[in-house]
Amino acid sequence: MPELKWWQKAVFYQIYPRSFADASGDGIGDLEGIRRQLDYLQDLGIEAIWLCPHYPSPLVDWGYDVADYTDVAPEYGTLADFQRLLDEAHRRNIRVILDLVLNHTSDQHPWFQESRSSRDNPKRDWYIWRDGKDSGPPNNWYSVFGGSAWEYDPRTGQYYYHFFFKEQPDLNWRNPEVKRAMFDVVRFWLDRGVDGFRLDAVGTIFEDPMLPDQRAPIRYPEWLKAWHSASDEAERERLWRIRQEMFRYQEDLPEVHDLMQELRALVDTYGDIVLVGETEDLAYYGHGNDELHLVFNFPLMKAPRLTPAVVRANQQERLGGMPSGAWPCNTMGNHDFSRVLSRYGDGQHDMEIARIAAALMLTLRGTPFLYYGEEIGMRDLILTDLAQFKDPLGRWWYQVERELFGTPHEEAVIRGARFGRDKCRTPMQWSPAPNAGFCPPGVQPWLPVHPNYMEGVNVADQLEDAWSLLSFYRRLIHLRQRTPALVAGDYLPLAEDSEEALVFLRALPPNGPACLVAMNMSDRPIRVVTGLRKWGRCMFSTHRPERREEDLRELRLAPFEITIMELKENS
Ligand code: NOJ
Repeated sequence: MPELKWWQKAVFYQIYPRSFADASGDGIGDLEGIRRQLDYLQDLGIEAIWLCPHYPSPLVDWGYDVADYTDVAPEYGTLADFQRLLDEAHRRNIRVILDLVLNHTSDQHPWFQESRSSRDNPKRDWYIWRDGKDSGPPNNWYSVFGGSAWEYDPRTGQYYYHFFFKEQPDLNWRNPEVKRAMFDVVRFWLDRGVDGFRLDAVGTIFEDPMLPDQRAPIRYPEWLKAWHSASDEAERERLWRIRQEMFRYQEDLPEVHDLMQELRALVDTYGDIVLVGETEDLAYYGHGNDELHLVFNFPLMKAPRLTPAVVRANQQERLGGMPSGAWPCNTMGNHDFSRVLSRYGDGQHDMEIARIAAALMLTLRGTPFLYYGEEIGMRDLILTDLAQFKDPLGRWWYQVERELFGTPHEEAVIRGARFGRDKCRTPMQWSPAPNAGFCPPGVQPWLPVHPNYMEGVNVADQLEDAWSLLSFYRRLIHLRQRTPALVAGDYLPLAEDSEEALVFLRALPPNGPACLVAMNMSDRPIRVVTGLRKWGRCMFSTHRPERREEDLRELRLAPFEITIMELKENS
């Protein structure tokens, strides 16, 4: 294998701590719960964990409103528990990266408490305070979570800026003291041995200090409504341009790249640390070695349909657009997004489609990030009772549906549930036992468990079944680990006009080992001409016997077949 860094080789696994495993028995996941599942993750082949925020928080945004950056939320454990988890993960060669929320704090953070206490408080300028205009907010900017981006604070008669909820005031990164304090946070965790950070909402860190009004032609709720019902690509592109206009003074300002360079320089002093940005903007790779190590391929995750043409176009755009030296990063879901099976399942071939999605993650070029539960085929749970909603976004959208669009209550609840993020944050399904083994029987989990845990969507049942989705993930992750071409090889598309099959090579240059990956993404048997004058030996297949050798010029693929062939040398 060519010299690659650990974060280029590892399969990452995202853990939402509240929902993963509850060791204390209070219905809330915790660090000890995660620690007890390290064997499971190791056996699956996971080599790195991304831990969603574990810091003390009033939980308005379920941890993304941090009240103390250098501690552990009491319901998750203590700093000692954290250290134990980290050390035990390391002992199993599993790295741990943390979620770093740079853009904003909780309004309960002592920094903000001080800042809001008086206009001349030394921390006043740590946040973005402005006078109102014409008896309203300073300008017409939106919060991406609804309403104005400005909140009036009667105590000092000024507005503060918040890109997200009003309980998440934005820090003022133009103040050097803010940077110093946050860089101290980075050092605090690196000194404890963490292996990197996922940078939350990295594009929102700076905003235009002149506060010009945005000039989008429609209001944000109308935009969201249109976005969620847009069916064709042209309409989505048109709407995306409107969104960019709407938030152009609040996102991806050039200054953020200087900050990323400084942060990169800081983490580089600690060795092989990884920074992965919650952004799809390739500009965050900088020159390929001076900003973020990884930028998520969100366009693939957000594709309304998974087809060979969509994947090929995506790969061409992403791989072609990256600076040299940069490394791709693929994901199919996270805690903000509908689960992969709920999005792409067609009700008839769901397991086949889930396998295709997994195979994409594990064979395309780049570091894969899996989302907890994806490996057992967990689905969205659409709550039908407003009282169960935990995510304020779901409640906000319910209100918008009711008040702005006149949607009847029941329909508005469903739409709110679909819009909100509770759906993809339900407890991990460990077994067919009550509460899916997430927490003890009789205890109420913080979010309801998806009832399909009783129908085989759980770890215990799938571990016993060689044909389960979990076994598929496990086999493929292990194959990937022992196949350098699948990790480090270049991506070379074949059969580029096939509408049904995605076929590509992963090849180590020059003339090194290579694999052919073929996926029939349709429900019909097909024949695909690769044009490859080589023989291959089957390494992995949903349908073919392993080790069988065949001419690769033309392949017959069964419906939804996934096959990986090792190219035979000198053939
Ligand atoms: C992105 C996170 O993934 C999301 O969950 C959160 O609400 C916002 N950033 C604000 O921190």
